[in-house]
Amino acid sequence: MVDYVLVAKLALSEAKALRAREAVLPDLHPIVIGAVDVDELLDHGGIVMQVHVRHDHSFRVPRPDRSVTLGTPNACNDCHKDKSPQWAAAAVERWYGSTREGFQAFGEALHSARQELPEARDLLARVVTAPETPGIARATAYAEMAPYLAPDLVAELRRGLADSDPLIRLGALRGLEGVSPNRRWPLAGPLLSDPVRAVRIEATSFLAATPTDRLSLEDRQHFERATQEYIQVQRFNADRPESRVTLGAFFAQRGETAEAEAEYQAAIKLEPRFIRAYVDVADLYRALGRDREGETVLPQALAIAPDNAAAHHALGLVLAREHRMPEALAMLAKAAALDPQQSRYAYVYAIALNATGERDKALRVLEDNHLRHQADRETLMALVSLNREAGDNVAARRYAEMLARLARGNPAIARLLTELPAPGQK
Ligand code: HEC
Repeated sequence: MVDYVLVAKLALSEAKALRAREAVLPDLHPIVIGAVDVDELLDHGGIVMQVHVRHDHSFRVPRPDRSVTLGTPNACNDCHKDKSPQWAAAAVERWYGSTREGFQAFGEALHSARQELPEARDLLARVVTAPETPGIARATAYAEMAPYLAPDLVAELRRGLADSDPLIRLGALRGLEGVSPNRRWPLAGPLLSDPVRAVRIEATSFLAATPTDRLSLEDRQHFERATQEYIQVQRFNADRPESRVTLGAFFAQRGETAEAEAEYQAAIKLEPRFIRAYVDVADLYRALGRDREGETVLPQALAIAPDNAAAHHALGLVLAREHRMPEALAMLAKAAALDPQQSRYAYVYAIALNATGERDKALRVLEDNHLRHQADRETLMALVSLNREAGDNVAARRYAEMLARLARGNPAIARLLTELPAPGQK
């Protein structure tokens, strides 16, 4: 649906003439700026540039109660800046009673997903199936499903992949991030010929690591065409280090490691302060067994950004591979302390601690990490196995039950629970 057409360089009289020919510009409101190339306009079917209709360009019903529970902004406190959201919520309750109805019922689900809470799983599933959920919210909810993947959610995400709204197809692709590369083709293969380029690009990136040997010749050609388009799109921004590392990661996933390395190095050259490029190239070196080079590149990054968590983490991994455990532990600990939002840093630190015989300390790090990231399955899994090793079957079972609630329908986790005796059993 098109609201306005911006017709560049079109004289008013000509625009009017075009307008008279309804077949060319039916039901459109041309905004005319300047003088013109009518042929070009006609070549483009009348549309040179268009502005998308903003379906949700609305004033929201003020919900100060949600500011209290979710920290979202509300109109009341935009004016009453000296008052708290509690004050505004109490006034609304005085005026309208205690039940709040209204649109935008997706706030709780998205909030709980971002807090990595276990209840997000069911709340998100409800948001994507509710008919009143707007497309942009459904797309976001799909994308947030990634940490909770289980067979029923994959079925739901498949429905999203086939939706008529491209935003929803994009969101569903992102939600499937946890699916292993060799199971991705049946899900996303068809989207390589999506009419919308953003969807094709996302699908190509999603499929990057797909093993191609079992694809039909036709599928392989199809994939190759999509890959060329992907590379071309990234090359368009080749002056930006972000595009270079994106392309580098794409090549790395395809196993084209020389090309990947060249992109990462180009990013560093373009912008020596772009730390992600150092981290990514070090990861690549580690995967290729070229740890020495990672060991050179990461201290360069740390000299530029001494508080960068990702660089500490990456250097910790390199040192751990070289069995230099005291130094590795120091790096991994620092990464976890610098960025507690990344559950993976604390998780890896705990695993390394356990590997050096410090199981109790590892358990404490994992417990803390679990409180911050309750939906993180890796951390829960490690809590199950380390508690089991320590002979604490009660704790192991408690964490396994949390895991089973998070990953309902996952057979491996259901099996794990049967291996752990319930309290009172031997
Ligand atoms: C556009 C600015 C604006 C917005 C938005 C607004 N208010 Fe007000 N509000 C005012 C003004 C101005 C007054 C009058 C202040 C005065 O008389 O001192 C007022 C008065 C009030 C009062 C009575 C004054 C008092 O201290 O008891 C309450 C209660 C109140 N607002 C609550 C709300 C709530 C709840 C919302 C959201 C639903 C809201 N307001 C939204 C500007 C605003």
